[in-house]
Amino acid sequence: MKRWYGVATVTIICASAIYPVAAQNNKAGDGLSIGRQMLAEDNPGELWIDRGKKLYYERRGPKSVSLEQCDFGLGAGKLEGASAQLPRHFADTDNVQDLESRLVTCMVQLQGFNREALIKRAISPAGSEGSDVEALALFITSRSNGMKMNLALDHPKMREMYKAGEYLFHRRAGQTDFACVQCHGEANKRIRLQDLVNMTDKKQIQEVVSTWPAYRGAHFVVRTMQWRLYDCFWQMRLPELKYLSDTSIALTTYLHYQGNGAVIKAPGFKR
Ligand code: HEC
Repeated sequence: MKRWYGVATVTIICASAIYPVAAQNNKAGDGLSIGRQMLAEDNPGELWIDRGKKLYYERRGPKSVSLEQCDFGLGAGKLEGASAQLPRHFADTDNVQDLESRLVTCMVQLQGFNREALIKRAISPAGSEGSDVEALALFITSRSNGMKMNLALDHPKMREMYKAGEYLFHRRAGQTDFACVQCHGEANKRIRLQDLVNMTDKKQIQEVVSTWPAYRGAHFVVRTMQWRLYDCFWQMRLPELKYLSDTSIALTTYLHYQGNGAVIKAPGFKR
């Protein structure tokens, strides 16, 4: 897969690593958050909702059917509130699936698309028109806007996924010996101008889980949670995170459960 940052940037991220920001620097932070707010009010990601909607209702794929028969957990075609409970365990696949893995299951089983081809195109190149999966994921999530994240760990496989995600979030690994929690476990850390979200803080993790898929300003496309995790794996110099892998779904299960109660407002706007 194509990388979007140059090697120089990589070096800077590594070398500058993470320095706590002194409290007196909050002025700059305020300016940034005002800028972000202004961008969010005019979020180009909104355009992807319409594209996703069209793709959802269109008869597509070798079997020429729409996605209306896809069950995202609340019954075929019932989208309202569905993504608020994802990832969840699905009886038909006997697996815990996140939004994107469920979507791909339906595109393969209902519409007859080729799984490998879908996965290959799922994360679109920066500056492109975006992928079908990205547009569909946003449309489906947007149907839960205003609703609260509400994951349940009642199924044993959900509990396993959650436990695995919790472990992965805290485990140091790879050549840099980084764990997610080192960048995302304390207040007031930043890399360059990017504030690092403290995901052990309830309010901050809620802001995260309620704003994906998000329009990514630097890439001019809508990005999904699968992409975000892929990118953090890359930042950690871990082996490439496989799209829809159990590892990715375990982390999303952990993060989404931590964010329960957050009111969904997709698309978010990220730098
Ligand atoms: C080297 C530091 C670093 C590590 C380690 C790291 N991340 Fe990140 N993470 C970042 C940066 C930088 C951003 C993007 C900030 C920005 O663009 O404003 C980010 C963003 C995120 C976001 C999106 C936050 C938002 O604004 O919605 C999620 C989710 C996330 N990381 C999850 C993880 C997970 C899970 C791990 C462990 C597998 C991890 N990160 C490891 C640096 C890191």
